[in-house]
Order: sequence, then structure tokens, then C-alpha cells
Amino acid sequence: LGGGLIALIAGLTVVAAALVALPAVADGRLAGVELAVVVLTPLAAFEAVTGLPLAAQYRQRVRRSAERVYEVLDAPVPVREPAAPAATPASPFPLEVRGLSARYAGAAHDALASVDLTLEAGRRIAVVGASGSGKTTLAQVLLRFLEARAGTFRIGGVDASALDGDTVRRFVGLCAQDAHIFDSSLRENLRLARPAATEPELRDALARARLLDWADALPDGLDTLVGEHGARLSGGQRRRLALARALLADFPVLVLDEPAEHLDLPTADALTRDLLAATRGRTTVLITHRLAGLEAVDEVVVLEAGAIVQRGPYDVLAAADGPLRRMLARERESVGGPVGVTGVHVSA
Ligand SMILES: Nc1ncnc2c1ncn2[C@@H]1O[C@H](COP(=O)(O)OP(=O)(O)OP(=O)(O)O)[C@@H](O)[C@H]1O
Ligand SMILES: [Mg+2]
Repeated sequence: LGGGLIALIAGLTVVAAALVALPAVADGRLAGVELAVVVLTPLAAFEAVTGLPLAAQYRQRVRRSAERVYEVLDAPVPVREPAAPAATPASPFPLEVRGLSARYAGAAHDALASVDLTLEAGRRIAVVGASGSGKTTLAQVLLRFLEARAGTFRIGGVDASALDGDTVRRFVGLCAQDAHIFDSSLRENLRLARPAATEPELRDALARARLLDWADALPDGLDTLVGEHGARLSGGQRRRLALARALLADFPVLVLDEPAEHLDLPTADALTRDLLAATRGRTTVLITHRLAGLEAVDEVVVLEAGAIVQRGPYDVLAAADGPLRRMLARERESVGGPVGVTGVHVSA
């Protein structure tokens, strides 16, 4: 629009200059050749400014980009890296969290409050709690994506804040709530976890995530393309692929954040069962808001508003009057509700 307007004004100016100059030529005050100069000068002048509307547009766009860059630059650094990292411990065990509180920048309350947690080699802990209770926040702290506000987090006796973030993340791996599946083949998605993985290793990871039979039945096998965000896979297959990738990475401590979220209950419970079988003997923190299958873990930790309100073996907590029993009752109620209506029978 700006460009059009300038062209129109330029045209009108030329016409006006011609109208003013023509009588002068007729009177002999202006030579015919000079008429051309009078008429063309405004044209030349406008040529100099035709770029301005475009420049104004670009300026706006650049300003918006700059704002985005400044947003990133000005954002508080969530975790400070140590200037001189401590020596990497030989083993991450025991991995100990003591009196740990954490708060997001700008938040009025702690997302985690005085949390204690100890992971020995091979121990499996389930962290359960309602939405917003701080489960993902705990994962963030364990991976040093979020700094503790108070308390300690030690890895093999070394304060985690004295270690490089990347060192911590070689010990503690995450299968995130929204694990990304890349628009590539099954094989390439797995190899991200371990580029040098051999064919038997890839197949073993798939087998443990109970995907191997399905993958082998595909015409292209492991070379099957999964589509953008894994669009050509079912929800359950996407989760199993993310799980296979996490198993292949073989982290000393594996944190699984809601691996069965958004799946229908039978699919979710089958996945939980399989992943508990696949992680037997491996140090695991399983974050979930569903309780089915948790008999298999060593300790269940119940979070409420960032604080641990109950902990212990599943069958002890399920037998006692307390938060876990109440969660269990709610879960059984909801299974009796919507799932029964659709005709799918799930035994509670
Ligand atoms: N990036 C963030 N910035 C500010 N507050 C956050 C952020 N992420 C989470 N919170 C807040 O911290 C609290 C704990 O959130 P968290 O994500 O840990 O809950 P959760 O138990 O994982 O929930 P869900 O089951 O829905 O995944 C919530 O009150 C939430 O609003
Ligand atoms: Mg979460």
C-alpha cells in the first residue's frame, strides 16, 4: 500500500509540474528542453524515497526479532554451571536429594518443598501425585535443568551443582513427558540415543519396549519412516519407541516422566507393565499419575503441592488409610465409569 501511494503521488507531482511548466514554455520563459528537466526532476526525487515503506516494514520486523532475541538473552539462567567443575564421580550412587526445595523464576510458591530421595543402584521409585504436584519439577531438578533453591543434591557423594550439567545428564537420563519423535526412520530415531549402536543392540531395545515383533512385520522393518512427530505410529507405539530409545541410551539412572500419558487405559497399563519389566534391575524413577502396576517398584512416593506426603512400598501404602489409598479409590471409580460405558472391560 505504501509503495502504491508513493507511485500515485509521484505521478500526480509529474502531472502538476507539467501543468505549471507548460504555460511557461508557451510564454517563452522556459526552453522546451528545460521542460523535460522540470517534469523529470520530481520523478527522480521520488525514486529516492520509494524504498522507504519497505524499509519501515523491515524495521518493524527486525524490531520484533530483536525483542525475541532479547527475551532469550534476558531470561534468567535456570542453572549456573560451575566455573571449575569437580571431578566426575566413578558412580552416581548413592544419588541423594536432601531437603530440596525448588521454585520457578517469578513464582510465588515452591514447586518442590523439602524433598528427600535416595537412589541406590538398581532401586526403582515411583513418584505419583495429582497434576501440578511437582513430579516433572523433580525430574527437572534431577537433570539439572532447574536449580535447587534450598537443600542438597549429591551424585556419588559430589554436589551436583559442582558438576557440569552435561556430566549430570550422562548419569541421569530422561524419557520426557513429550519425548520428541523425529521425522525419520525407526532406526534413526533409536540411533539418536547411541549413534554407534549395533543392529542386535537396536533390536534388543525394541524387544524390551515390546516393539520388535511389530517392527519386524513391517515391509521396511527398522527403515520404516515414522512421519512428522511419529504421525504414522499409534500413540502407544510412539511411547514405546521413546522408551526403546531411553533404554538404548542406558543411563545409570533413568527418569521416565508419564510414559503412558494420553493413552487409553488398557494401552497405558500394558505399557507400564512392559516398562516395569524392561527396567527390572535398573535404577529408575517412574513418574506417573496412574497407580496400576506399581506393586513392582521398591518405593512409592506421593507428592502433594510439591511436598512428599507419603512414601513406602506400594502394598503397605495401599493397605493404610492415606493419600495413596484415596488416589487408588478415585482411580477405581473412574475405571468403573467412562471405560465401562464404551464396553471395554478393565478389571480394577
Ligand atoms: N516452567 C514453569 N514456570 C513456572 N511454574 C511452573 C513451570 N512448570 C511448572 N510450574 C508450576 O510448578 C508446579 C509443579 O508443576 P509440575 O509440572 O512439576 O507438575 P506435575 O506434577 O508434573 O503435573 P502433571 O501431572 O500435570 O505433569 C505447578 O504449580 C506448575 O504450575
Ligand atoms: Mg508433569
